[in-house]
Amino acid sequence: MTLTAQPAEPTLDDLARDILRRNDRGGYTVPTGGLYPFQWNWDSAFVALGFAEFDRNRAWQEIESLVSAQWADGMIPHIVFHQHDAGYFPGPEVWNTGRTPPTSGITQPPVLASVVRQLWEQEGADPSHPRMRALYAACLKSHRWFHTYRDPLGNGLVMVTHNWETGRDNSSEWDHALDRIDTSAVGSYQRRDTGHVDAAMRPTQREYDRYVAILQFGRSSGWDHRVIADQGPFRMIDVGMSMMLLRANRDLLALAEAIGDEAAAVELRDRIALSEQGMDWLWNEEVGAFCSRDVITGESSGLVTNASFLAFYAGVGTPAQRQRLLDALERMGRSAQYLLPSLEAGSRDYDHRRYWRGPIWLVVSYMVARGLAEQGHADWAERIRADSARLIIRSGFYESFSPETGEGSGGGDFSWTAAMWLAWCGQ
Ligand code: GLC
Repeated sequence: MTLTAQPAEPTLDDLARDILRRNDRGGYTVPTGGLYPFQWNWDSAFVALGFAEFDRNRAWQEIESLVSAQWADGMIPHIVFHQHDAGYFPGPEVWNTGRTPPTSGITQPPVLASVVRQLWEQEGADPSHPRMRALYAACLKSHRWFHTYRDPLGNGLVMVTHNWETGRDNSSEWDHALDRIDTSAVGSYQRRDTGHVDAAMRPTQREYDRYVAILQFGRSSGWDHRVIADQGPFRMIDVGMSMMLLRANRDLLALAEAIGDEAAAVELRDRIALSEQGMDWLWNEEVGAFCSRDVITGESSGLVTNASFLAFYAGVGTPAQRQRLLDALERMGRSAQYLLPSLEAGSRDYDHRRYWRGPIWLVVSYMVARGLAEQGHADWAERIRADSARLIIRSGFYESFSPETGEGSGGGDFSWTAAMWLAWCGQ
């Protein structure tokens, strides 16, 4: 009897690498085939961390391809439409930004500088690293864009002018602001997302009309970011972006100091101090958390979301505030089977399957866990990491996961989920 060697079962590491390779479109990665066929801003930053585990060149290239679409005013767009794909709405003809390559007209969470610092440190932190230096310059320009256009209160926080900018697209945090959006002129259009995944996991039609109406305002201004910032129909201070930009400014400062860019270092230290003081504007004493807040009405969302816990990652909060955040984490840890839900169970419109109204998103969990570990809460960081790994082991590399059942939701074979396995929770 002859024995033939059976091919070994692929490991989760193998599968994760394979997803990144298959979602690679030549220098940039799509979040997943079908549902999101272009390059997304913060997705690429996290994907670079995944590539960094097995292909250093490809990791840098992921960020460089995104930054190549940076606008002259400094904004790094949220989508780059490198190639045509009819299966997505709203595509380049709807945004109509007049760029080459075509892009959307809004941005996404500024995590690039933090990732660039990580890649650079992994390679020995050489101040003359040419790829780091080129990306440093792009990040500085993008951070200045935020400081110039997105800080209407002058307190170092980040205003968003479309809920898509937050990356937490349909979080309940935006509901009241969206209720005020006039959709009477939206006209007809065909959604594509619900053709790819179950509509119960996606925003409702009523919400989508509002997203389109806000987009149309930007387009009618000719994508003039001053006009949009001053007069746009949706203007919220996002707790997530505010925390991430503060963190990214700290990371950019480390690069500025290494390079010896003293003028930028002074500027960044000022911005950091401003944001540290400004963050209290988001603190909601009643719920005991940092919450997003409406610029137009001043109303706090009053919701505890996964972004609230980015306070640890940003390095803000008094001891008393941090204790209340840990109390909230404890509550969520009791009510959910897996941490960290995007919205606390029991909050208005919580739904463990619907996108950012409950499901777990590993990239936010990753930043929260990092912050917790850095601030002396290694036990919580480990709990979040282990739960994240369990989700992938149970369900595969989904876009998001139910905190109650662990089932995957949204798209499958998702790039940033694969990247988080390689760079973080699968370790
Ligand atoms: C969804 C998510 C957003 C992400 C994009 C691509 O719009 O809400 O955060 O960047 O998909 O994955």
